[in-house]
Amino acid sequence: MTARMDVLLGAQWGDEGKGKVVDVVAPDYDIIARFQGGPNAGHTLIFDGRKHVLHTIPSGVFREGTVNLVGNGVVIDPVTLVKEIRDLEAAGVDVRKNLLISRRAHLILPTHRALDAASEAEKGVGRIGSTLKGIGPTYMDKTGRNGLRVGDLELTDRMERYQALTRKHERLLALHDRPGAAPEASEEWLTAIETLRTLQLVDSEHYLDQALRQGKRILAEGAQGTLLDIDFGTYPFVTSSNTVSAGACTGLGIAPTRIGKVIGIFKAYCTRVGSGPFPTELSDATGERIRQVGREFGSTTGRARRCGWLDLPALHYAVMINGVTELAMMKADVLSGMSDLRVCTAYRVNGQVTDRMPYDISSTIEPVLEPVEGWGELRADRPIPTGLQHYIGLIEQHVGVPVKLVSLGPDRDQTLLRDKTLVN
Ligand code: GDP
Ligand code: IMO
Ligand code: MG
Repeated sequence: MTARMDVLLGAQWGDEGKGKVVDVVAPDYDIIARFQGGPNAGHTLIFDGRKHVLHTIPSGVFREGTVNLVGNGVVIDPVTLVKEIRDLEAAGVDVRKNLLISRRAHLILPTHRALDAASEAEKGVGRIGSTLKGIGPTYMDKTGRNGLRVGDLELTDRMERYQALTRKHERLLALHDRPGAAPEASEEWLTAIETLRTLQLVDSEHYLDQALRQGKRILAEGAQGTLLDIDFGTYPFVTSSNTVSAGACTGLGIAPTRIGKVIGIFKAYCTRVGSGPFPTELSDATGERIRQVGREFGSTTGRARRCGWLDLPALHYAVMINGVTELAMMKADVLSGMSDLRVCTAYRVNGQVTDRMPYDISSTIEPVLEPVEGWGELRADRPIPTGLQHYIGLIEQHVGVPVKLVSLGPDRDQTLLRDKTLVN
């Protein structure tokens, strides 16, 4: 039987700690492949006293010998990508050797970013809270069959293609009474594509197929989270790609029958950055405490993240949609020492209690909160305290899958494997 590809993804509203877990498990894989999203992502890795934030490059980049592939489902801003490569090179990482880029990945143009800003400005109070990286407009061009792809950069008429798309965008921007991209931005973009052209561009679906046939182990790395999925998230306050496990198939060209484990990453509480419904949000001192202790400020935009209690109906929904086989729980240390912990076990919708995620999770939803026992300091060299064990037990019972990894701090080493089968 050929090897399987495992999938690792966010089970909440993003920023669950995907980058850290990918970095921890990367030595057990030959290839780490990003399958969707773009530089709206910010994946943080901390080891040897240094912090690195990745936006486009997969989180296996610090592991010697691991191939990092940017799949067809990703949207790439050449300027961000080139800056990321330079920063990594400055930190002594030889990125180019093991970095592969799918020819089918779409490119973010400076005018996509301008269109993103125009769209958000027009929405006013109804704005999504986008990272303004041009994600929505680029995926719109992809599905609208207008997009520019990485492989187009190898064609002789690439400049004509770029100019035609830019002109189209400028006409749209004029309708919004907005200028096109600044000349410096276009200049920077054109310089960056020259660097992008020197990278290893591949037909990634064939590359991955062959790798699986050779018995290589692949981990698909998701960006954002299930509740930001274009179909199953809290629409319209979502991103523009399929963040769920099915997205790993379309975003890499891997058949569903070849998927092995699906690892869902979640925090011991919830956060959300940007607008949109958030049933367990804490707009009080407790929410502020979690924000400060958990350093809940965006890795990409620096915005304060909204914080709230763990939402089990939402986590259960993520387990269902993704077919999660095992969970990794992050940031339990942030709740250490809190005596008034709560967890949402159901919702009250129009007076009815339900544990099902409803179609419309707007303000009419009230979380049913249950008090839980707290825990003290957590250390990787000590057993998990009883309070936390009960918390994990409650989660496992509710969602029906095991929590196999518990993260006790941001560093690579602050990680506890409850079950070694997570990584083999
Ligand atoms: P990602 O987008 O899912 O990769 O997550 P981010 O990197 O955006 O956000 C997670 C943040 O939490 C980062 O600042 C990590 O360094 C940090 N982090 C990850 N795991 C833990 C943990 O177990 N405890 C604490 N305190 N911080 C963590
Ligand atoms: P990672 O991979 C958290 C949010 C934005 C906004 C909405 C749409 O680090 O978990 P977009 O830029 O896609 O138009 O924004 O989605 N968002 C994220 N929130 N983590 C992310 O990525 C996010 N990427 C986008 O804040 O609410
Ligand atoms: Mg992030």
